[in-house]
Amino acid sequence: MDMKTLLEHMQAHHGRCDQLYADGENFLLDEQLEEGLESIKSFLNEMERHFQMEETVLFPTFEEISGMHQGPTQVMRMEHQQMRNLLARMSEAVSNGDGEEILEVGETMMILMQQHNVKEEGILYPMADQHLASYREELIERMDAVAIPA
Ligand SMILES: [Fe+2]
Ligand SMILES: [Fe+2]
Repeated sequence: MDMKTLLEHMQAHHGRCDQLYADGENFLLDEQLEEGLESIKSFLNEMERHFQMEETVLFPTFEEISGMHQGPTQVMRMEHQQMRNLLARMSEAVSNGDGEEILEVGETMMILMQQHNVKEEGILYPMADQHLASYREELIERMDAVAIPA
């Protein structure tokens, strides 16, 4: 039986996204453009997938069970939109094969992402673990099943 908490599960996925970006950054700094673009593409896909895991599975369930509809989940949704603007710019830079632009936007992206993830890991996920303890396994299964966006 999987005894992972939501915090542990989501923290691991934040780590996976961080790693994909770090790989891409290393390739680009090393002037391995093709490998860099591939890693950044994977990063962009996994980020959108992460947002969808939260917005379509975790947040709605949290809102329903806790009764908190206007609280932390709304702030997190707004921050996702801010980050999506940056991810869209990175995606355009990938299409243009512009490694410098990726790294420049990526730097801002990493700052926003870090601040966002600290709030989720410090506040929202622990609250979710409290409110949603009996739904944990089902939620993790449903989040794992969220497909990589087309
Ligand atoms: Fe989030
Ligand atoms: Fe998250």
